[in-house]
Amino acid sequence: MTTAAALTGRWSRELAAAGIAEAVLESELLYCELTGHRRAERFLWRQEEPAAETIARGEAMLVRRCRREPLYYIFGHAPFRNLELEVSPAVLIPRPETELLVDFLLRHTPEHGRILDVGTGSGAIALSALDERPDLTGLALDISPDALAVAGRNAERLQMTGRLTLRHSDLLSAVLPEERFDFIAANLPYVSETAYAGLEPEVRCYEPKLALTAPEEGMALMRRLLTEAGRYLNPGCWLLLELDGAQAAPMAAALAECGHYREIITLRDYAGIDRLVGGRTPRAGEAGKQEKFGL
Ligand SMILES: C[S@@+](CC[C@H](N)C(=O)[O-])C[C@H]1O[C@@H](n2cnc3c(N)ncnc32)[C@H](O)[C@@H]1O
Repeated sequence: MTTAAALTGRWSRELAAAGIAEAVLESELLYCELTGHRRAERFLWRQEEPAAETIARGEAMLVRRCRREPLYYIFGHAPFRNLELEVSPAVLIPRPETELLVDFLLRHTPEHGRILDVGTGSGAIALSALDERPDLTGLALDISPDALAVAGRNAERLQMTGRLTLRHSDLLSAVLPEERFDFIAANLPYVSETAYAGLEPEVRCYEPKLALTAPEEGMALMRRLLTEAGRYLNPGCWLLLELDGAQAAPMAAALAECGHYREIITLRDYAGIDRLVGGRTPRAGEAGKQEKFGL
């Protein structure tokens, strides 16, 4: 006989030996995934006796995690804002930093607006925005048909297929000439080939490279997008890009130089790193002169 405390204790030691930093947290998340318990209530379940099937399924998951397969691919779902999204190796596991992009979107998209999510992956940005703002509708694009299939299943499960259109597209190639949006969000691949070689095995060996890397020090796709995006934005509306800290200054400069945007902002993440850069199209009657504002 063993207790949940002893079992998760052993799992955490095995995870730590495999080089996993948050071994205690992950051992408890694993146990909660198997039992349906809440981690916050661990003082209630620590002394229970786990069923044999729970132990067997947990051991199998542990082996995969010790090979550095990401926890959320093993589970098949990942949390993002208020949602639990299906994930698979066809999509990037949504990151907490991207939740900040959604915060800005929610605050700066007008009522009954239409949003565009470029490189939607699991659908994290578009689906969470529509979940938190029932007045919004949107279009989500991705170049990967496999990623679109995952996003489609997420939209269906969340009953959002009526409000979110998914389209296969190389950046904005599938956007119709007459379509206009009230916010364009993009978490496109932004890792350089050099940086990619130094990433954790969880990312390098399991997450899709198509979702991670881009030429020109990671900035090629963002550069293309910012020049193409301006014509699809309504007046006074934002394009917001997630990026790496070192890319913030060159991308803010590119936004200022391309001529479509009136106000340029840079926003930091929880770690104080420049993570988001955006530009707003001129409002009706506002001078087209370019100015740069840092936040
Ligand atoms: C960093 S992932 C972001 C996924 C999701 N938006 C998120 O934040 O979790 C980038 C996504 O962009 C897609 N992508 C890569 N190149 C693209 C392109 N040229 N046009 C459209 N999507 C692209 C990838 O397939 C991937 O799903």
